[in-house]
Amino acid sequence: EATIKKDLPLLNINVLITAGPTFEAIDPVRFIGNRSSGKMGFAIADRMYNLGANVTLVAGPTHEVCSTGINRINVMSAEDMHQACIANFQEALITIMSAAVADYTPVHVAKQKIKKSDTDLSIALKRTTDILADLGSKKRPGQLLIGFALETENEEENAVSKLKRKHLDLIVLNSLNDPGAGFQGDTNKITIFNQQLQKKTFDTKSKAEVAIDICQEILGLL
Ligand code: CTP
Ligand code: CA
Repeated sequence: EATIKKDLPLLNINVLITAGPTFEAIDPVRFIGNRSSGKMGFAIADRMYNLGANVTLVAGPTHEVCSTGINRINVMSAEDMHQACIANFQEALITIMSAAVADYTPVHVAKQKIKKSDTDLSIALKRTTDILADLGSKKRPGQLLIGFALETENEEENAVSKLKRKHLDLIVLNSLNDPGAGFQGDTNKITIFNQQLQKKTFDTKSKAEVAIDICQEILGLL
């Protein structure tokens, strides 16, 4: 039993994870999306599962596959993702939001395919809900909330401001300026800040190894 506890430190702990992009429909055949592969979030989900957690993975459209023991909820839009997160947040001790959620979505979704005309086209966009900020405002004492920040300039300053504004316990900074970091590759380079604004930098590693580091930092908060 002692070994089980040591190997599975998150046994019976509910963990909620978001991963992948969201797609915001423009018409029946078109959408606004982004280049997120979902790999980082899926690697974290697998790691959490291997640590014994009950994992709910809210996944945007991605080709990634996860362990069959993970409760995967597939969603398309930011709005869908928000609903799935709200439904699962209360019971989660640990929530990790790695999804690349669209910040804007079309005001109207055309019922029919939009036909081209000779004039240029503009599409009106409205803000989506910031899911992470919403969960941050609903967080109970003891719940842990971890966010990501994807930055191309003023990386650390922007990441710290997101940590504070969204009431996070940790923020994982991905700088797109780092070679080997980012969205689509198999490696990542991260920096993690905690609420005391202590900073930990990590080397470029495979996303599976980065997931181990992130989960280790989270375990350290428990
Ligand atoms: N996030 C979210 N819901 C949104 C937008 C972002 O849950 N509608 C989460 C992401 O999953 C990530 C964190 O917020 O964990 C930061 O996302 P990011 O795009 O880096 O920051 P934003 O707050 O959206 O600000 P900006 O894109 O302007 O830098
Ligand atoms: Ca954003």
